[in-house]
Amino acid sequence: MASGKIFIVGIGPGASEYLTKKAIDTVKTSDYTVGSTRAIELFDDVQNKIDFNVKNLLDKIEKGVQLACDGNTISILSTGDPGFSGVLNTVLRISKEKNFPKENIEVVPGISSLQLAAAKCHIQWDSANVMTFHGRENIEDILPIINNGKTTIALPSRKVKDMAQFLIDNGVDEDRKVVVCERLSYPDENIVESTLKQIAQSEFTYMCIMVIY
Ligand SMILES: C[S@@+](CC[C@H](N)C(=O)[O-])C[C@H]1O[C@@H](n2cnc3c(N)ncnc32)[C@H](O)[C@@H]1O
Repeated sequence: MASGKIFIVGIGPGASEYLTKKAIDTVKTSDYTVGSTRAIELFDDVQNKIDFNVKNLLDKIEKGVQLACDGNTISILSTGDPGFSGVLNTVLRISKEKNFPKENIEVVPGISSLQLAAAKCHIQWDSANVMTFHGRENIEDILPIINNGKTTIALPSRKVKDMAQFLIDNGVDEDRKVVVCERLSYPDENIVESTLKQIAQSEFTYMCIMVIY
């Protein structure tokens, strides 16, 4: 059977008002949609849902890619933009392993949480340090750039308070201005302007962007 098609679809930061028309139309015309429950719920018109969670994410993506190998059109949903700490590389790797043709894969960009944080803070983000520590153990990479005079926008690797404490422990001024953008675009969105010292003593959910001035 001829290969189908895989769309890797960015769904934006969470609220439906940040979904693109392209994302909505792509999901509507897909045979199957793979994504977290929260992501799938954003769409009204979904034919066959394949929900995943953190534990079975890889299995479900593999299932989606296999369905595409069997001739179906698949949407795989990614928070924000698939190319920024998203599922893009994972889907590309699994597709390659299954010899799925690269030309049948299309990325539908979404609005990244990073972009929304920059917008909320009025930051021209092409002149910021943009870093992600999500799902990685590369937190030390922030140290060489944190004092280079630019604002740093980062997806934390661990709790926001631990990241703030890590910076203080490594000599960054504890009075440094920090903005934490939590659950952007959700009804309980929380944007807190403070200092590293205060943030190191505060609790936030995992869904945060840190802006360090
Ligand atoms: C797996 S990464 C996905 C990032 C996504 N691809 C993007 O472009 O925003 C998940 C992390 O993104 C950040 N994030 C995603 N949505 C967010 C939101 N609505 N508000 C704040 N941070 C968010 C958090 O740091 C979260 O832990």
